[in-house]
Amino acid sequence: MIDPMDVVLVGATGAVGQEMLRVLEQRAFPVRHLRVVASPRSAGGTVTFRGEALVLQPPSTEVFEGAAVALFSAGSSIAREWGPVGAAAGCLVVDNSSAFRMDADVPLVVPEVNGQRIPARGGIVANPNCSTIQMLMALKPLHDLAGLDHVVVSTYQAISGKGARAVDEFERQQRAVQAGEAPPVAVLPGVLAGNLLADWSHEPSGFSEEELKIVAESRKILELAGLRISPTCVRVPVRNAHSQSVWARFRRPITRAEALGCLRAAPGVVVDDRIGPGQHPQPRQVSGTDDVAVGRVRQDLDDPQALSLWIVGDNLRKGAALNAVQIAERAFGVTPSTRA
Ligand SMILES: NC(=O)c1ccc[n+]([C@@H]2O[C@H](COP(=O)([O-])OP(=O)(O)OC[C@H]3O[C@@H](n4cnc5c(N)ncnc54)[C@H](OP(=O)(O)O)[C@@H]3O)[C@@H](O)[C@H]2O)c1
Repeated sequence: MIDPMDVVLVGATGAVGQEMLRVLEQRAFPVRHLRVVASPRSAGGTVTFRGEALVLQPPSTEVFEGAAVALFSAGSSIAREWGPVGAAAGCLVVDNSSAFRMDADVPLVVPEVNGQRIPARGGIVANPNCSTIQMLMALKPLHDLAGLDHVVVSTYQAISGKGARAVDEFERQQRAVQAGEAPPVAVLPGVLAGNLLADWSHEPSGFSEEELKIVAESRKILELAGLRISPTCVRVPVRNAHSQSVWARFRRPITRAEALGCLRAAPGVVVDDRIGPGQHPQPRQVSGTDDVAVGRVRQDLDDPQALSLWIVGDNLRKGAALNAVQIAERAFGVTPSTRA
């Protein structure tokens, strides 16, 4: 039995922060006091945890004092400014932003994939990008079986991945489109209602930031510096849960039956290999669940060493909040509640 601890939640009003509140409660994380932090704009407002209204405060040195865990989901600049403050106060800092992911001395962790990298109790740990997490949940067990050689991934990323304000704007866009009015465009780079967008900034290579994150983070987590990955990321008009079409080539032939057996044994993965129209993992079904769903597993028609897969995961849960809480659980030896 672990003694309850003080926990700081930075970004408590955001899309990920709100999910963190639910995950901490559902998994009965041993929280003594939860200190909730958001921007100065939200200070004095409240969020609800275990039925209690908690008052929001802006970040400060004092808020981390005596706390054991600090869960950050407030973007990179806040993480860079306040993450080291939390770590210096002795907290295990688990950050959802990209601020520290590629730092050589910061572990980048998906517990089921490289949980051995989680430090005992203190320091900074980075949560990977949501797309990277769900892709590796399916590919790591297959890599252990047959050795990954090349991955081609196209993402179908939900609007909640861009934060609470983007979800709000998307819903207003949908209402405007239905009413025949001009949709508002402020948070998103264009109209997503009834449309698709590549909404990340692009590098000179033509790849988007999001695409390059998948490449760099997968190589770091798998410790495969030379892994070939060809990504294309797309935002789709789906409220929550990211989908991915993945083609993966291995170092030896791998059959559909072998792959299904391997995935069925993988922790945190659920195989949904029904075949037929509409019979596959779908964001509407996966949203709100913890496992990453894998379906449509096919051996390539021309290459016996390659598989095609369809992977769906809740970007706010396994892609962010759940993964972060699992890291804290492992660091402190907490067994999650089975009521989760
Ligand atoms: N959404 C996803 O699926 C997902 C998945 C993986 C990782 N992430 C990462 O997680 C982070 C948060 O994402 P999100 O989608 O939850 O964003 P979001 O909905 O926009 O929430 C941002 C949070 O940060 C807080 N914040 C902003 N400025 C602050 C300041 N100066 N001091 C303290 N808090 C401040 C906001 O508080 P106010 O309400 O007061 O503005 C809000 O609580 C980002 O780094 C994102 O890349 C997101």
